[in-house]
Amino acid sequence: MLEIDLERGGLERSAVTRHAETLEHALEQLDAAPEGDFLRVLERADLLRQIQAFARGRSSQLTDVVQLGIGGSSLGAQALCAALLPARHNQTVRKPGLRFHFPDNVDPESFGALLEGLNPATTLVHVVSKSGGTLETAAQLHALLEAWRTRGKRFSMAKNFVATTGSKGALREFADAEGVPVLEAPDAVPGRYSVFTSSGLLVPALCGVPVGKVLAGARRMEARCRADAMVGPAGQLAALYFEHDRAHGRSIHVEMIYSDALQLSGAWFSQIWAESLGKKGQGPTPVVARGTTDQHSQIQLYIEGPDDKLYTLVRVRRYRRGVKIGRRAQPAAIAGRPLSAVFDAEAQGTVEALVDRGRPLVQIHLPRISPDLLGELMLLQQLQTALAGTLYGVNPFTQPGVEAGKIAAMRILSGGSRPG
Ligand code: PA5
Repeated sequence: MLEIDLERGGLERSAVTRHAETLEHALEQLDAAPEGDFLRVLERADLLRQIQAFARGRSSQLTDVVQLGIGGSSLGAQALCAALLPARHNQTVRKPGLRFHFPDNVDPESFGALLEGLNPATTLVHVVSKSGGTLETAAQLHALLEAWRTRGKRFSMAKNFVATTGSKGALREFADAEGVPVLEAPDAVPGRYSVFTSSGLLVPALCGVPVGKVLAGARRMEARCRADAMVGPAGQLAALYFEHDRAHGRSIHVEMIYSDALQLSGAWFSQIWAESLGKKGQGPTPVVARGTTDQHSQIQLYIEGPDDKLYTLVRVRRYRRGVKIGRRAQPAAIAGRPLSAVFDAEAQGTVEALVDRGRPLVQIHLPRISPDLLGELMLLQQLQTALAGTLYGVNPFTQPGVEAGKIAAMRILSGGSRPG
């Protein structure tokens, strides 16, 4: 179970608990609204069966899996793969020869390099777009098809492609017309809340991650959060972050992660926090920092700069690998010790330095990195974000600012001039 320590959160308990009624009401509203589907998908045994059956049927014939999609339609799967297949991120994975790729962009240099390395006959392309109309995803898909067709490569739309998309839209129409199998993207679940659907789980499942355990962990965290009026740790964190922003001018929320395997889970949280809450001229600014690396850069700002930040340290208690430092090492304090002792001491040093300066901080400890604990962490942060939306008075499930950029890019590509 995740350990969540709010003791050094820097606020009176009452400043957080006074939001209990609002949070309880927010959860009731979620339960009654279509947006609550991001919780209900945890119970959709049919969706899990579909993902597992698809992965079982395909993975043995593949050398490469590519997920086309951007933002929330890529980051969840990336975070899970990076955490649970750490040494293999974007490299060879457990099944001999199986590699996974998340271009998550339309940079012609990186995308072109990816295309050169793929054998279409043994590649599965997972195209993910809930709306089905995202420009970057459409561009990636049709650039890949163009490259494969131009080079006279043999592939089949039914065998080498699969789409995760909503009930309507251009991708759904394309898939139906071309015979591409389709997995369900629930219409009320935006990409950043979709990690527990095939958007987040299919590629990990193909790579051998027991995705049922990810969902089991998420369900466990949901039950923990529902057990009290504060909506458990999700509500407490939402209220704490909100209060620091609103009442104390700490609108910068730093997530400092002491685990390389979890760095992309930080990018994922940063996306859901920013895209869900940055509305109506307000919203917190998420920052991801890497421990210990950023102790040699950003920490100077954190300790001696302005007191406008709330810190969340994410730490791991037991590592999956052990590395020993030689006995002749200097300073003597590290000689013969495990590398983890240095890592942990550095993290604890950061805690003490922040506390000594009176900087507020939260600690989240994972007993180890495992599928179920990743499920717990990601559900916690999804629910925290959804609840924070109510505290900020914004709808955390829309993204009008993102849509504005999409519309402007489309106008530019169509040769239209700027309105006004
Ligand atoms: O979280 C979000 O809503 C966004 O980041 C989307 O995932 C991203 O814009 C891609 O949208 P779509 O899945 O509709 O292609």
